[in-house]
Amino acid sequence: MRPVTPLSVLAHQLELLDREQPSPRLDHARALASGLDDYLSATTTPESERLAALSRRTSEHVWTRSESAVATLEPEMLSGHVEGQLLRFLVAVTGARRVLEIGTFTGYSALAMAEALPADGRVITCEADPRAAEVARDAFAGCDRIVLEEGPALATLERLAGAGEVFDFAFVDADKTQYWDYLDVAHRRGLFAPGAVVVVDNTLYQGEVYLDAVHRSPRGAAVAEFNARVAAHPAFEQVLLPLRDGVTLIRVLP
Ligand SMILES: C[S@@+](CC[C@H](N)C(=O)[O-])C[C@H]1O[C@@H](n2cnc3c(N)ncnc32)[C@H](O)[C@@H]1O
Repeated sequence: MRPVTPLSVLAHQLELLDREQPSPRLDHARALASGLDDYLSATTTPESERLAALSRRTSEHVWTRSESAVATLEPEMLSGHVEGQLLRFLVAVTGARRVLEIGTFTGYSALAMAEALPADGRVITCEADPRAAEVARDAFAGCDRIVLEEGPALATLERLAGAGEVFDFAFVDADKTQYWDYLDVAHRRGLFAPGAVVVVDNTLYQGEVYLDAVHRSPRGAAVAEFNARVAAHPAFEQVLLPLRDGVTLIRVLP
């Protein structure tokens, strides 16, 4: 897997340095950075067989390029075992029944959250790319707790708001340059119940959000701006966890 989190980028850099100029100190630093993710996985409740199978299928799938695609699809997009378990855990402890997801990809996080829902609970998940939607639909077969809304998420949010939908839990994981719009539209259009929990992925964006501007891509800059806006907003309480590529937990204050 390509390094796509601050920790895996750091581990990769240390490994290159250690190869160029081996030293016990560098070896120790490399071992500290490269061992953490595997340890977190080993000590976290295992994923279900269904989730493990979807993770394998996503890695094996050949993701062809498409001119019209909203994003380049790649297996690294999948949230995976530890983050999926965090979502599952949060859905269970909050007692959420109505879950909104923005960014389905192949459906791993939607399925992880659905596993923690009561029988009458629902995950409504938004995906713009038909290639991802096709794989996800297949993954959701037999699970009537998930509804896939295919199309650009902002238009879907407007439609859901127009239909009077309200959610007590949300996971935001689509286009990083639209993160603020997703949160702002959903909040202003009343899609969040008072006290709703919103989980946002990639809020460290490979460390770009805290590195000098010279190391910042347009997406990294958009996520840094998103983080600053959330931090300054009086209607939100939040904490950024350094798990994988950064996961922010936001509580929409009642
Ligand atoms: C990081 S992946 C989601 C991963 C998924 N949540 C998981 O954990 O496996 C982001 C997804 O958002 C989709 N996406 C990007 N822009 C979008 C938009 N404007 N509306 C809906 N989906 C979008 C991409 O096609 C991609 O499948």
